[in-house]
Amino acid sequence: MHLLNFRELSGQQLMEIIDKGIEVKHNLTKYQTALDGKSLAMIFQKTSTRTRVSFEVAMTQLGGHALYIDWRTTNFALADIRDEVQYLSRNVDCIMARLLKNSDLQAMAASSHVPVINGCDEKYHPSQAIADLITVKEKRGNLKGIKLVYIGAHNNVCNSLIEGCTKIGVKITTVTPIFNEPSRDEELLKDAKKTGLYETTLDVKRAVKDADFVYTDTWVDMEFFLDPKYAAEKEKRVKLMMPYQINKELMKGSNAYIMHDMPIHRGYEISADAIESPKSIIYEQSENRLYSAEAILLKLLGKY
Ligand code: CP
Repeated sequence: MHLLNFRELSGQQLMEIIDKGIEVKHNLTKYQTALDGKSLAMIFQKTSTRTRVSFEVAMTQLGGHALYIDWRTTNFALADIRDEVQYLSRNVDCIMARLLKNSDLQAMAASSHVPVINGCDEKYHPSQAIADLITVKEKRGNLKGIKLVYIGAHNNVCNSLIEGCTKIGVKITTVTPIFNEPSRDEELLKDAKKTGLYETTLDVKRAVKDADFVYTDTWVDMEFFLDPKYAAEKEKRVKLMMPYQINKELMKGSNAYIMHDMPIHRGYEISADAIESPKSIIYEQSENRLYSAEAILLKLLGKY
C-alpha cells in the first residue's frame, strides 16, 4: 500500500489514520518499539522544514531510523528513477518522497517493493491534510457537519483537503481566485462535488460568515517563491489575491479557528494579527505533522 493521495482510501480508513495520530500523540510509550529495525528513506527534490523533521522524528520515536536524501547529491539526478527505486526499495522498508512531478512519484511507486508516501508534489499533500484533520478533530471532537473554508490559490494542499474532508463528512468551501494548473485533478473535484460537501465561491465574506475553520496557504508555490523568472507572475498574483488575505478585518464577527500549513508569508496570504490571534491554531497544526507522520508510517508498515 502506498499513500500518494486519498483515492484508494475509504472514509473509514482515512478516519482510522486520523484517530491513530491522536492516539499516538497521547500514548507514545505504547509505540516506542513499533518500528524497531525499520528504515525510512526520505528523498527531497524541494525544500522542506516540517515534512523532513516530522518524518525523521516520527521514525526515531517509533524505534526506527530515517535517512535524509537530497535528490541532487544522489544518482537519482542522473539515472532512470525506476532503476534507482528498484535498488532503494531493497535496502529500506518505506520511502517518503517530495518530488516536483506526480508522474515521477507514480513511477517511483510502480517500481518500489516497499510503501511510498507522497511528501508533497504539485498535485497532492496527503500527510499535511491528515495533520490538518487531526487538528480539526482535536478542536471540535466530532468532524461531521464541520465547515472548513480554504482561501487562496487552488493547489496541492487544497486538493488533499477537498479529498480528505469530503471523504470523512467535513464540509469544505474553497475561495480560490487563482487555480494552479499543475494541480488540476478534475476527477477529484467531480467526486468531491458528488458528496454534496464541496463548493467553491468567490464571495469570501459570505464563505467566512459561518465557517468553523478558515485555512490559507501560500499564493506562490515553494519552488517559485524566490525565482527571479517568476517575479512578474508573483507580483500579478499578489495584486489579485490581496483582497483575500486572512486578516482582522476579514475575520471580524467570525469565531472560526485560523489555520495555515506553513511556511507562512507574513503580510501576503495572512497578516501578523491573524497569525497571532487567539483563534490561530497554526502552530498546533504544524506540531500535528509529527502525529500524522507516525500514524501513516504505522499504517503502511502494517502495525494496525
Ligand atoms: N507544510 C509543509 O509541508 O511544510 P514544509 O514545506 O516545511 O515541509
